[in-house]
Amino acid sequence: MKKIVVLTGAGMSAESGINTFRDAGGLWEQHRVQDVATPEGWHRNPQLVLDFYNERRKQLLAAKPNAGHIALAELEKQYDIRIITQNVDNLHEQAGSSHIIHLHGELMKVRSSGPGEEVFKLTPDNYETHLGDKCPKGYQLRPHIVWFGEAVPEIEQAIGLVNIADILVIIGTSMQVYPAAGLINYAKPGIPIYLIDPQDVNVPTKNILVIKKRASEGMKELKEILDCPAT
Ligand code: OAD
Repeated sequence: MKKIVVLTGAGMSAESGINTFRDAGGLWEQHRVQDVATPEGWHRNPQLVLDFYNERRKQLLAAKPNAGHIALAELEKQYDIRIITQNVDNLHEQAGSSHIIHLHGELMKVRSSGPGEEVFKLTPDNYETHLGDKCPKGYQLRPHIVWFGEAVPEIEQAIGLVNIADILVIIGTSMQVYPAAGLINYAKPGIPIYLIDPQDVNVPTKNILVIKKRASEGMKELKEILDCPAT
């Protein structure tokens, strides 16, 4: 089976009703990155950060995978699909995809802010975290999110995957955040690279087939290109 590595960003989940970050009206117009997505913001005002992620979880719990997520999961019938997502939602999982790396963490998990950084799963009926919610060792729980300025623990595994991809697909990311945006540079020379996004996206290669559509329609077109039977 050919290996397709798929890099997804916020645009993948836009049609599920989850806000992107940098589009007009996106999350970074409504919140300051420094306040809610950095270790400094966390130290300054942890309650604000917890509230921000509680709200993100509430939004996620009201969302469902869209046709793009589902089409990607269905591609597993013909291809070995590996997803590297910058998204912290779990919509790829809900759609049925099997192999997913969450480069920037996961909304439905929290972790200890103490040494060891033990991770805990949240549940839909108990998804909020508040100041005073502690791990068994007594450390405050924080979102299991990779904030700006923090290491991206899964990046080496992601590079390894892109390295052995037969086909690379990029969906719904503005390619502005590193190291994720740099992954494209690890693709083997000459492999087909597809980019699905309704807007123009700057990528450091010309050898790319752009499908200028939303994720759902773009995935439909990609399936036709890859010659997969319609479902
Ligand atoms: P951005 O908000 O930067 O980019 C979203 C991309 O999705 C843009 O290129 C849009 O044109 C595209 N888009 C919008 N609607 C779409 C649709 N229906 N179908 C397909 N594409 C669509 O989001 P990311 O690139 O994912 O990190 O942002 C990367 C990281 O920056 C995020 O993981 C987050 C953020 O700060 C952290 O919070 C750590």
